[in-house]
Amino acid sequence: MNKRILVTGGCGFIGSEFVRQGTQRGYKITVVDNLTYAGDYARIKSVEENISFYKADITNREFMEHIFNKEKPQIVIHMAAESHVDRSILDATPFIETNIRGTQVLLDVSKHYGIEKFINMSTDEVYGEISDGQFEETSPLSPNSPYSVSKAAADMLGRAYWRTYGLPVITVRPSNNYGSWQYPEKLAPVVILKGLNEERIPVYGKGTNVREWLFVSDCVEAIFLVVEQGRIGEIYNVGSGQEKKNIDVVQAILGLLGKSEGLIEFVKDRLGHDLRYSLNSAKIENELDWKAKVSFEEGIEWTVKWYVNNMDWVKDKVDYLHKYWERVYAKDFS
Ligand SMILES: NC(=O)c1ccc[n+]([C@@H]2O[C@H](COP(=O)([O-])OP(=O)(O)OC[C@H]3O[C@@H](n4cnc5c(N)ncnc54)[C@H](O)[C@@H]3O)[C@@H](O)[C@H]2O)c1
Repeated sequence: MNKRILVTGGCGFIGSEFVRQGTQRGYKITVVDNLTYAGDYARIKSVEENISFYKADITNREFMEHIFNKEKPQIVIHMAAESHVDRSILDATPFIETNIRGTQVLLDVSKHYGIEKFINMSTDEVYGEISDGQFEETSPLSPNSPYSVSKAAADMLGRAYWRTYGLPVITVRPSNNYGSWQYPEKLAPVVILKGLNEERIPVYGKGTNVREWLFVSDCVEAIFLVVEQGRIGEIYNVGSGQEKKNIDVVQAILGLLGKSEGLIEFVKDRLGHDLRYSLNSAKIENELDWKAKVSFEEGIEWTVKWYVNNMDWVKDKVDYLHKYWERVYAKDFS
């Protein structure tokens, strides 16, 4: 074992879970992250003695070449991205830049230096919405937000580099992750924070949008199986099968916090909001023997406890987020 893995976005929510698990599994890990508003070194501080870290932008080709030259990674896990749909609606520019151009730079550099595997982190959102049934890996891509379009482009670039140059790319398309260390602009931590402070909790539309809730450690275990046994050139859906309406998630969190549902405020729906995502994950379950282990009920309880016990980490982000929330919900809160 002890392979050298380069992780982009390793100071983000999912990337840092990968880094923490990876060091325990004995991998030699290099983290590349330019620490955007969403990146935080604190997420990997507990394992810093076992990793190398570069504060670097993946769109910076020269810097990427320098890092590959020095660290000689055998495997690349590409998770760096602008990841929040609402932000992509406010301004798509950084999404195009990081998610598309950044991916191209990494694919080029990986091709030049030669690697064994390039895991391209895509998302269930590339398929677009589905009212009944489930998306399979062969379903057509039909993304609807600037975020999901940028991810679909990155996903297809990976496909092109495999098909055209034989770069050993594997694509993973996980569903909606939740758990500790998630930046508090995403649904679960927003509800936890606002619930704790007894502030109004904005819920888009009538809260009927359905997501497939995947605990972050389960997602990362799937990625390690893909690293170790996944077939080159393949795509793997990674879903938990636990579909929940947003309103059910909000109510579950308020119940755990012992707070009133009177805090819920339905606001004008997100532009272009996809109604439902649902993945058929039979391929990774059958081929790699993966299955999500954590139930939504266990995972959300654990997550609520984590935020309650880690308010120091969240506190300094909240002032900034207040301004951001006002921008997103401006029309509804005026
Ligand atoms: N969170 C989810 O539910 C989910 C579901 C499916 C797929 N994904 C995908 O998984 C990956 C990780 O998601 P996340 O939720 O951890 O995101 P995140 O926003 O928490 O983390 C992204 C990280 O990438 C870094 N980054 C951004 N731009 C960069 C750049 N130009 N150069 C270097 N680093 C940069 C940020 O600093 C941050 O640390 C993303 O590719 C995302 O699209 C996320």
